[in-house]
Amino acid sequence: MTIAQGSLTPVLTAHWDEADSYTIASYMRHGGYTAFKKAFAAGPDAVITTVKDSGLRGRGGAGFPTGLKWSFVPQGDGKPHYLVVNADESEPGACKDIPLMLANPHSLIEGIIIASFAMRANHAFIYVRGEVPHVFRRVNAAIREAYQAGYLGKNIMGSGFDLEVVLHAGAGAYICGEETALLDSLEGRRGQPRLKPPFPAVAGLYSSPSCVNNVETIANIPYIINNGVDWFRSFGTEKSPGFKLFAVSGHVNRPGIYEAPLGITMRELLEHAGGVRAGHKVKFWLPGGSSVPMLTADHLDTPMTYEAIAEAGSMLGTGTPMVFDETTSIVRAVTGWLSFYKHESCGKCTPCREGTWWISDVLHRFESGHGQEGDIEKLVEICQQIAGRSFCALGDAAATPFPAALKYFRSEFLEATRTPANDSFDPAEATVFAGVKR
Ligand SMILES: Cc1cc2nc3c(=O)[nH]c(=O)nc-3n(C[C@H](O)[C@H](O)[C@H](O)COP(=O)(O)O)c2cc1C
Ligand code: SF4
Repeated sequence: MTIAQGSLTPVLTAHWDEADSYTIASYMRHGGYTAFKKAFAAGPDAVITTVKDSGLRGRGGAGFPTGLKWSFVPQGDGKPHYLVVNADESEPGACKDIPLMLANPHSLIEGIIIASFAMRANHAFIYVRGEVPHVFRRVNAAIREAYQAGYLGKNIMGSGFDLEVVLHAGAGAYICGEETALLDSLEGRRGQPRLKPPFPAVAGLYSSPSCVNNVETIANIPYIINNGVDWFRSFGTEKSPGFKLFAVSGHVNRPGIYEAPLGITMRELLEHAGGVRAGHKVKFWLPGGSSVPMLTADHLDTPMTYEAIAEAGSMLGTGTPMVFDETTSIVRAVTGWLSFYKHESCGKCTPCREGTWWISDVLHRFESGHGQEGDIEKLVEICQQIAGRSFCALGDAAATPFPAALKYFRSEFLEATRTPANDSFDPAEATVFAGVKR
């Protein structure tokens, strides 16, 4: 079956408009809880091979091949293994995992059963963002349903395979989405990234081999097992096979989740989202959350694949495009994101802890029309001191928005250095804009 690029391809979202889509009855009515039985019959190694062959890439942002990641978990080592589902979803603009867990939580639970079986894990954890209690309740109820049906617990369906699933609520820190900070948080410590190596596959949760995967990644698994590698590869491209939940937000008429093959263009996604609001045009857009470099209207025909977006100078990230029209102040947008990174920096390493404060301070100066000569160069230098020199990817993310914005909208920053200063302005007060005084 060949799917026309550009059309929507509802798989994960196929039944979201049904009133009871989140129940086990609905999931089973549509063929749910059949894939894990096939997986049990095939055996763990065959499941890993299928996922490898499907080419599925992690949907958490980096696009790492999922089957390969699973194969890193050593087998026959006599240690307990853990699957950890990353359901933290705290990045500005990212909003796909939470709707997925609300509308179709059983695809995640069946995916967990299959993934745990494949990597010989008898315990799985779902680390969900604590500020969304309705999601916690929804997933908790789904887990209970799965236990009652005998799909979780001891000796699942007489297979000899045991699996306990624990749902854990985080306390609302963006850094706890970084996989090793998440593991520390899950162990009851302050969520800060760990030094790698060792990688989680060797020493993860409780120092045992572990695999951290995104919600959408795991929810794909039952559909791949049921429909096969060729079916999955009939969507998308050679290097980016499959379909994706594209959560389109910003200045569009119909913001929402559009499930489409990887390779759809942003222009096509925009059409699905009803276009930019009337009388306006795209100024810039970010393909996947605030951590990826922005692109402009010139890039709307770029295919939404890991490889094409990288070639255009950005990253697909979480595949949750944010669209901004010409009424947006680039200075204000970048300042807002940097306030977020400054607030969320965990403070473990100096370049990010100090650098995010400095960038944010200087940007607030621009934003209030008090940019000074040399500020642009200063910001470029600070970003260079952070990127590649920080302990984890949050630092790199914080050093991304300003250089990317400068590439396309330098004049707006220059303008902010030319605006006559208000005499009553006290630079020491600049950080008040972020709600925090140093
Ligand atoms: C600051 C930061 C926040 C992150 N937040 C998330 C998140 O909320 N969800 C997620 O799946 N991955 C997040 N990641 C990426 C994870 O570290 C990890 O790569 C991902 O969970 C792996 O899953 P995947 O292989 O299925 O994509 C974050 C990374 C960083 C640096
Ligand atoms: S880069 Fe930032 S968030 Fe990451 S460890 Fe360093 S201070 Fe913490």
